[in-house]
Amino acid sequence: MNILVLGSGGREHALVYKLRESQLTDDIFCAPGNAGIATEAECFPVDLTRPADMLRLANELNAELTVVGPEAPLAAGVVDEFQKAGRAILGPTRQAARLESSKIFAKQFMQRYGIPTARFAVAESFEEAARAAREFPLPVVIKAEGLAAGKGVVVARTREEVELTLEAFMRRRALGEAGARVVIEECLVGEEMSFIVLADARGGILPLPPAQDHKALLEGDLGPNTGGMGAYSDDALLAPALRQDIIRQIVLPTLRGMEAEGAPYQGFLYCGLMLTAEGPKVLEYNVRLGDPEAQPMLMRLRSDLVELLKASLEGNLTSVQGRWSPNPAVTVVLASKGYPGPPETGKVIEGYEAAESQGGVKIFHAGTVFREGQLLTAGGRVLGVTAIAPDLPSAVARAYAAVEMIHFEGMHYRRDIGAKGLRHSTPMPEGLSPNPLQGQGRSS
Ligand code: AMP
Ligand code: GLY
Repeated sequence: MNILVLGSGGREHALVYKLRESQLTDDIFCAPGNAGIATEAECFPVDLTRPADMLRLANELNAELTVVGPEAPLAAGVVDEFQKAGRAILGPTRQAARLESSKIFAKQFMQRYGIPTARFAVAESFEEAARAAREFPLPVVIKAEGLAAGKGVVVARTREEVELTLEAFMRRRALGEAGARVVIEECLVGEEMSFIVLADARGGILPLPPAQDHKALLEGDLGPNTGGMGAYSDDALLAPALRQDIIRQIVLPTLRGMEAEGAPYQGFLYCGLMLTAEGPKVLEYNVRLGDPEAQPMLMRLRSDLVELLKASLEGNLTSVQGRWSPNPAVTVVLASKGYPGPPETGKVIEGYEAAESQGGVKIFHAGTVFREGQLLTAGGRVLGVTAIAPDLPSAVARAYAAVEMIHFEGMHYRRDIGAKGLRHSTPMPEGLSPNPLQGQGRSS
């Protein structure tokens, strides 16, 4: 089978890496890809906002399965375009992708189907938003309605910050049209978790192992939010009973709700959760795998990924089982100077080959290019240094040992990826089970 992966980040590199291992894969392609992906798949340029261009490329390559990484092509309707042409593609339609592309749709959808989430109000003007925000205690969360590449959510701690954020979003349109409408939301306290399932359009699901992202730029969850500075996946994150609750109270009602709305959901569904004292609540949906979460998660996958994706497309997920390594995996993101603002690029990356030759380590590329025999930085997030080991402390140590071997000018990273998880793996006194509900609110 010929397979095409759409996207250019660490998540897409991890997808290519696993898809390539499959017995069912003949040729594997990626568009647009990056320097790391190009060593494992043939790459082609493409505009990820133009469904017709992506379909033309898939036709030329005779891609029998296309896998979409990021949200932009999904929100642009790439799945609808392929379906009309009868070409197999994994991911939700444009209508179903509104779970991510419209925060207002997502919140009202959760309200309609009784899916636990933070109390909220929708506002269409600065005055309306300012009035609504006064009804919520501080801190209050302000979310731009549309896609804003991770920059559309602010946890405002003072009334002044509320005002400044609304001013920027709604009056100055700092995020363009994405900020024309906002959701004002109660701030939830607890531990954040990424719970992802693969769904078929018939209500079948395959839950992936749990993961935790590190969205804030700086150690201790301080500083501005980013696309994600690192992640780990470890079964200890989620007790089996809580996992069942999440599936019963959140995942299945979401899929049934989408079906009832005439937009049956197929593909990866990412539930960004807060584990609150009242139980798990949805912070947001993403209509795709998370990045960086996909990197440690896929590092643990032992099943044939093509078989799983085929089962999703064929409406057969209830008949397959995912096999995962019991070993935890960790990804540390190495970022360019300036990120999450405009990054400095074109810096020579050294030491990555030696780092990758360490056992249990794989380096997924994001913003990289290969030019005149050198690997250069080409974006904000550059590499996802990923390690797997029999326990979380060893996986963390392995990832950071590899990180130490890599260098580029202006390189920065968080030194505490996985630290929250180490709490879960602390042995508990007899008779007690680790309580994932205990935790701290984030402080960015
Ligand atoms: P989102 O872009 O919707 O993922 O939001 C980005 C981040 O903002 C989340 O990962 C949370 O850390 C934080 N956040 C969003 N909504 C809330 C909320 N209601 N309460 C507390 N934190 C939130
Ligand atoms: N890491 C969070 C996301 O993919 O949106």
